Amino acid sequence: GGDSDADSKGGDSDGKITMGFAQVGAESGWRTANTKSIQETAEAEGIDLKFTDAQGKQENQIQAIRSYIQQKVDVIAFSPVVETGWDAVLQEAKAANIPVILTDRAVDSEDTSLYKSFLGSDFVVEGERAGDWLVENAADSDTNGDGKVNVVQLEGTTGAAPAIDRAEGFAEKIAADPTIEVTASQTGDFTRDGGKQVMESFLQSDDTIDVVYAHNDDMGLGAIEAIEAAGKKPGEDIKIITVDAVKDGMTALSEGKINFIVECNPLLGPQLMDLAKKVVDGEEVEARVLTEEGTFTPEQAKEVLADRQY
Ligand code: AHR
Repeated sequence: GGDSDADSKGGDSDGKITMGFAQVGAESGWRTANTKSIQETAEAEGIDLKFTDAQGKQENQIQAIRSYIQQKVDVIAFSPVVETGWDAVLQEAKAANIPVILTDRAVDSEDTSLYKSFLGSDFVVEGERAGDWLVENAADSDTNGDGKVNVVQLEGTTGAAPAIDRAEGFAEKIAADPTIEVTASQTGDFTRDGGKQVMESFLQSDDTIDVVYAHNDDMGLGAIEAIEAAGKKPGEDIKIITVDAVKDGMTALSEGKINFIVECNPLLGPQLMDLAKKVVDGEEVEARVLTEEGTFTPEQAKEVLADRQY
């Protein structure tokens, strides 16, 4: 007796797992690689993927998740645009008995029973790696030789876990050196254009900038355009630290226009599909699954660039 198998697989009769995935958008090279990894792995693993792009809007993600609940998918995964405001929709998924896997970014919900697992990077550690590098290279990074290392920060999307955590980890580490100071900090929304515009305005109001710390490669690449347009040399007159290590970032690093990149791995598809199969089968999974990542200098970028997948 009991429920039929067909019912426990989202009402499908083909026995395939159906996953609803609510993506942030297509704001960066990282995101494009992440989407590709998820779509390709789902296909390879025979998982029926319903994919939506929220174009950076939380309301669109919530709407997508509600529609996945209505369609009775077997599992919902999403990468939350911002950390706050998810409790209601996650409670709806829980009430419908649909397991949720957070992918890439965290939510601030206190009730951790609202999701089965959180797969992704430790963004605080990424910020710390950026800060450690600057502390170690402080003397070199004082490009105008005035005894102070003035840093401008290009923040990711306001309220997003990677923006909050990368700022926090960085601030903690640079506190060790009183010559380093973040003199301006503004969001560039994780986009190339955002990074370019914010950097243009920073350059107009301050000619003592030694370092740019950009929360992702795309904003760093936008900053490079602004710095060059202002007649300065990126990587020399102004040092640049970024996060992600996508191909365009790694290319700029190998050319010396970026000085250091902290890796953030977007290839989450295989681990996500693995977790999805387990939670649909009712298996226990780790509440936190971390991705492994490192850092790159220009020399290291030259070595790995040819084999870079994304
Ligand atoms: O959540 C991961 C971040 O989102 C990436 O570092 C950034 O490039 C993306 O837009």
